[in-house]
Amino acid sequence: MGSTLTPSYSKVAIILHWLIALLIIGQLIGGKVMMAMDPNALKFELFQLHKSFGILILILSVLRLLWRLTHKAPPLPEGMKPYERFGAKFSHWGFYVLMIGTPLAGWLMVSANPTIITTKLFKLVKWPDVPGIARSEALKDLMSQTHEYMAYAIIALLILHVGAALKHHFINQDDVLTRMLPFLKRKT
Ligand code: HEM
Ligand code: HEM
Repeated sequence: MGSTLTPSYSKVAIILHWLIALLIIGQLIGGKVMMAMDPNALKFELFQLHKSFGILILILSVLRLLWRLTHKAPPLPEGMKPYERFGAKFSHWGFYVLMIGTPLAGWLMVSANPTIITTKLFKLVKWPDVPGIARSEALKDLMSQTHEYMAYAIIALLILHVGAALKHHFINQDDVLTRMLPFLKRKT
């Protein structure tokens, strides 16, 4: 009986998945909110908070990628069509690229800014700029746009990702969602 169950993700993979997912969703909303504000002291604090959470996401995502490269993910359910398998793999690796690329672009943006604003993580730890960057308005603007478009790409992938998870759960009725969300009742 046990051998017929789809293996779950490991505890570490599950904790990192949900922690990073919550942080990224908060970061997407927070980023837009802070951009819409008039310049004032609170806006400055929110930018520092955005950078702090962003660097935290970067560090956690690198750890998660290392974990993933050294631990296999459970196999996809049998019966998935080749294009569905390709879609799952492509979107998962796409997420890794964006989870690391988006904060990297943000870090490059502030490092290239000719106006020097020191990044202080959670008001405690001074965070360095990317070493060896020549500050220029052009590079800052390029990284600002890259950062913004990567954030939109996360939103697009997230819609696809949640749609796929719900389809697995409610239409295919397999354990793809429950193995990442173990408090849900398994289907098999
Ligand atoms: C996964 C992590 C991150 C996400 C999802 C994220 C998302 C966003 C979003 C949605 C915006 C608003 C974009 C706009 O409307 O133009 C934004 C702006 C910004 N982010 Fe991030 N961010 C992340 C990490 C970082 C990091 C690590 C830094 C810097 C260390 C950073 C620095 C900034 C700055 C300075 C802005 C102001 C926008 C600008 O001048 O272009 N972000 N971010
Ligand atoms: C920005 C937020 C999110 C990010 C960046 C993200 C990223 C990822 C990544 C990279 C994987 C692949 C794990 C691996 O094999 O290494 C994954 C798996 C998964 N995610 Fe998310 N996720 C997010 C939000 C969500 C949400 C809101 C749901 C809920 C519907 C969800 C449900 C799942 C499920 C069910 C899996 C397992 C897929 C499988 O077994 O093949 N994710 N996620």
